[in-house]
Amino acid sequence: MPHRPYIVGNWKMNGSRAMLAEARAIDRAAARYPDVQVALAPPFTLIGALREAVTAMGVGGQDCHAQTKGAHTGDVSAAMLVDTGADVVIVGHSERRKDHAESDAVVKAKAEAALAAGLGIIVCVGETLEERDAGKAEAVVAGQVDHSLPAADVASDAVAAGKVAVAYEPVWAIGTGRVAAVCDVVAMHAAIRGRLLALYGESGAKVRILYGGSVNAGNAAELLAAEGVSGALVGGASLTAEAFLPIVAAAGTGEA
Ligand code: PGA
Repeated sequence: MPHRPYIVGNWKMNGSRAMLAEARAIDRAAARYPDVQVALAPPFTLIGALREAVTAMGVGGQDCHAQTKGAHTGDVSAAMLVDTGADVVIVGHSERRKDHAESDAVVKAKAEAALAAGLGIIVCVGETLEERDAGKAEAVVAGQVDHSLPAADVASDAVAAGKVAVAYEPVWAIGTGRVAAVCDVVAMHAAIRGRLLALYGESGAKVRILYGGSVNAGNAAELLAAEGVSGALVGGASLTAEAFLPIVAAAGTGEA
């Protein structure tokens, strides 16, 4: 089933108001590629300003708390993300799984909270180099999909509406310049699709599976053309319009 390509920039802990000019330039390009869904996830501090600065693209959070409110100093709820202008949130990024010891169960709770608040979600999965070298990559990622994705009973409407995406990001490919081999990406995306169909039934076909990990202007076209790749989650190369726009262009056909 063809999906609308989805290109998401993750600014991680980078960016200041001065960088809104880059976001505006990215937004203008997004408007030229209406067949591509583009979103940018800045740090929490910039979500509101970004929402006001752009029109064509989505605005995302990089994390949310599983609870709706309460005594959780420093945390931000999914409803707060919505309130400040986000329409999607990334959950379970490997940097959060590692730096904040987020388990699959925590990621699943966050994903379910995000859906309850009306956000789209991008749930990240991916194996470490040790796990790949040990021949466990598919088993690890399948386990993450099974246990990090929202339960079918709470996710069915969002899945049917195309608001649920998975990002396959091999940990060893993130920020390293070392991109996964296309044949490995194709195999992993097929394995993830199998788990999604098991979880959600035939509507699991509607979940877009993005690749992430050192995507850049030079490798985007090949990765995005690969079987089962519906888009990209882009870190470093999303920080400037110059680096990000060729990736958006590679995903789309542009205006007639
Ligand atoms: P990278 O990051 O593109 O800088 O490798 C990707 C990500 O972590 O989402």
